[in-house]
Amino acid sequence: MVHFETVEITTDLLIVGGGMSACGAAVEAAYWAKKNGLKVTLVDKAVMERSGAVAMGLSAINQYIGLRDGQNTVWDYVDYVRKDLMGITREDLVFNVARHVDSSVHLFEKWGLPIWKDKKGAYIHEGRWQLMINGESYKVIVAEAAKNALGMENIYERVFIVEPLMDGDRVAGAVGFSVRENKFYVFKAKAVVVAMGGAVHIFRPRSIGEGLGRAWYPPWNSGSSAYFTLRAGAEMTCQEVRFIPVRFKDGYGPVGAWFLLFKSRATNAMGGDYVVEHKDELQKWGEYGNVKPIPTNLRNRLVMLDVMQGKGPISMRTEEAIRRIASAESDRRAAQKKLKALESEAWEDFLDMTISQAILWAATNVQPEEKSSEIAAAEPYFIGSHSGASGAWVSGPEDVAPPEYQWGYVNMATVKGLFCAGDASGASSHKFSSGSHAEGRIAGKSAVRYIVENPQQPKVDMAQVAKLKETILRPLDVYQQHKNETSDPEINPNYIKPKMFMFRLQKIMDEYAGGVSAQFTTNEYLLKKGLELLAYLKEDSANLAAKDLHELLRCWENVQRMWQAEAHVRAVLFREETRWPGYYFRADKPALDEQNWKCFVNCCVDPNTGEWEMMKRDIIPLRL
Ligand code: FAD
Ligand code: ADX
Repeated sequence: MVHFETVEITTDLLIVGGGMSACGAAVEAAYWAKKNGLKVTLVDKAVMERSGAVAMGLSAINQYIGLRDGQNTVWDYVDYVRKDLMGITREDLVFNVARHVDSSVHLFEKWGLPIWKDKKGAYIHEGRWQLMINGESYKVIVAEAAKNALGMENIYERVFIVEPLMDGDRVAGAVGFSVRENKFYVFKAKAVVVAMGGAVHIFRPRSIGEGLGRAWYPPWNSGSSAYFTLRAGAEMTCQEVRFIPVRFKDGYGPVGAWFLLFKSRATNAMGGDYVVEHKDELQKWGEYGNVKPIPTNLRNRLVMLDVMQGKGPISMRTEEAIRRIASAESDRRAAQKKLKALESEAWEDFLDMTISQAILWAATNVQPEEKSSEIAAAEPYFIGSHSGASGAWVSGPEDVAPPEYQWGYVNMATVKGLFCAGDASGASSHKFSSGSHAEGRIAGKSAVRYIVENPQQPKVDMAQVAKLKETILRPLDVYQQHKNETSDPEINPNYIKPKMFMFRLQKIMDEYAGGVSAQFTTNEYLLKKGLELLAYLKEDSANLAAKDLHELLRCWENVQRMWQAEAHVRAVLFREETRWPGYYFRADKPALDEQNWKCFVNCCVDPNTGEWEMMKRDIIPLRL
């Protein structure tokens, strides 16, 4: 057996993840912990300055209410999110983030994030809720504040968290391993904030070969949040609500600035505008077809219809938008100047957050003022903080949540001491970077309160830890044992390498659960077959093999993906309707069923038997 030192850390609050919500949790928890003499520890699989979805930077802050200037009310935001998610949302959670999000944005500005301003000093909006930023160093700025608040002695980077530790029905910490040295980590804690983001590469991506890691969602978030909360026995929600972004093709550059700021159109190969030509389609989706803006998934649906009818590709008419804005200037010189400014804004939009799209433009001689660019629906992702909704079912805020949505501490899952934020908490979409930070702050404060009121350190069974250590490190042993029994170390009858395992998972999900190659369409038969194949995959996960630490990381990422995948397939199967046709379409249940399915689909796994339980939960409006 490969030798790994066991490192034990005892703390009060453990934050797992180092992204936007973890950074929010860190700054807030550090403040309240100091007042109460408590210790806060944070673990990230990467380095916080460049970890998570904001690693490359962003070009906009997508949630800002503008309460200070009376631009919108919190209620306006709740209304927007509910409609965008086809009626399925926890209004109490959305409300809570919306009333706190502006203060996170003001903190970012104080910490040094440049937000675009007009001549009068007002923020420049991309759309109603979005602010333009010079955001290539966004994550660096937010991480620095979190690091200063906690102190480096309380931060563990490049440590991959695998499993929760439990003391009966209470969380007791987490275990994981260093991705750089042979060390197995045991974190013992009174409460845990889960903030390990969403999941990518569960569905087969459009990218192939060298480009495999180029997806819209960052390749390093692999479903750790969902796995961790499921394994702790927490109730999960909206596992069927995946997100499919329509993005600039192959580079996955953002479209928000083009649609909202530059007011661009997108047209098909025949020059037709899908929003105009498929207007009737919207009427099939009840009241949600008539709302403005058109819900994200319905906008996708219109794009998908064009492509399915052979009218693709769809192109963002960048040249048309730039010329229209420039020609509105008073004279030719001003128009030329404006054209130059727009050109540089277009490039900066990509350089701030999706550098590879700018590289692709350069490599393919695209000048956005002259040539349009293809856009396409990406493969599905799990990102509850964006326009998806998957995550844990968490307790709502005391003052506005209905009693059915409250069990003590805000943002606590159905497991004692387990708090969730950002992508880890479900049914509260459209938090984005700023709202995730704000929700992290809410969860961090709430977790400290829980610790103050439940001060006893939970028991950790070290025999159980020893077993976990053996299971987690097993792929290294499997490889050593069998590596000489083949001429090609990638292929061996006694083991499966993580990349092959991932390909198998992606093929199942793509073909049976409505991925790109199935035109995002599935049905009961396909889903049941998919579950059968996932069960074989799960059996084979015991034979995963890793030649080094990096592959050990890959093994566990893929096991975590497999659990997220199963939760998804089960939820899509359970919900017998099509509610988000531009995210997935159930060909056997092709319509909305408001009477039977205007509800949440929740699920959990019994930690003792491994049995899945699926359930409906009522949608209860905000108590105001
Ligand atoms: P993340 O910020 O992704 O953080 C997850 C963290 O968990 C990372 O630190 C990661 O290293 C860590 N982690 C993962 N697994 C483990 C593990 N097993 N052990 C330990 N640590 C682990 N929002 C905007 O406001 N504006 C935008 O323009 C915008 N554009 C976006 C573009 C893209 C491509 C994407 C993917 C998202 C965009 N968002 C945008 C949304 C925003 O990035 C997310 O809402 C936000 O980052 C979610 O925060 P989080 O903390 O849940 O996850
Ligand atoms: S990002 O996550 O990569 O930044 P993107 O730039 O597409 O996403 O969108 C940013 C914001 O604009 C999100 O809030 C998204 O919901 C919104 N958005 C994008 N396109 C449209 C559109 N056509 N109509 C309304 N809102 C849109």
